[in-house]
Amino acid sequence: MPNHSIAIDGPAGAGKSTVAKRLAAKQGLIYVDTGAMYRTMGLYFLNAGIDIHDEDAVSAHVNEPVIRPVCSDGEQKIFLGEEDVTQTIRQNEIGDAASLISTYGAVRARLVDLQQEIAHTNDVVMDGRDIGTVVIPDAFLKIYLTADVRVRAERRVGELAEKGIVRSIEEIEKEIRERDERDMNREISPLKQAEDAVLVDTTGMGIEEVVGFLSAVYEGRLGTAQGEEG
Ligand code: DC
Repeated sequence: MPNHSIAIDGPAGAGKSTVAKRLAAKQGLIYVDTGAMYRTMGLYFLNAGIDIHDEDAVSAHVNEPVIRPVCSDGEQKIFLGEEDVTQTIRQNEIGDAASLISTYGAVRARLVDLQQEIAHTNDVVMDGRDIGTVVIPDAFLKIYLTADVRVRAERRVGELAEKGIVRSIEEIEKEIRERDERDMNREISPLKQAEDAVLVDTTGMGIEEVVGFLSAVYEGRLGTAQGEEG
């Protein structure tokens, strides 16, 4: 069983996916974006016309969507059935739907199973909200990535602007606060820092700096582990 996986958790917009992707490339690990799985599940229910506010209805259909994350060239593509939905699920409304249905036990149980299956057969960099606490509690390295909410909002506005979408920082900051509130306060597996996670506040840091720092921590641990084995 592989045992050098990295778990990255943290609130929306902290830079988890960018950092996770680069760290995976640098360390030869497979990148797994679990938020994309919740988003794909959300998309399925929206498309199927099932009321996402109705937990019983969602739970009754939870095994229907065929969700397939595929790692190619260090990027994760995700398929819903035969359709590549990698881009579609990035929309804001899909993120909100994901955040809502992720509070349901049946949804979490199904996706945690899928995630654990992947982590059991690969060394991964997996990012999400409950990776270090629930999905891979014995991860080799756990990271909790966060940043000031204003800075997260500014980064998001910048990303959207690159896609030609103009939104105000105030509006985005409000959305991020709402998302954090729900993800941190839900009953099942709320977002929280695992006790043994390394806390990284990226507020004043650039991506390369964060990736460099985390690579050094990972390599340091690998060295220590090899020393202990040898
Ligand atoms: O990281 P993201 O924005 O793509 O995630 C979308 C939503 O999915 C997030 O608001 C909460 C949920 N999620 C979760 O509950 N657990 C995970 N491991 C990943 C995402």
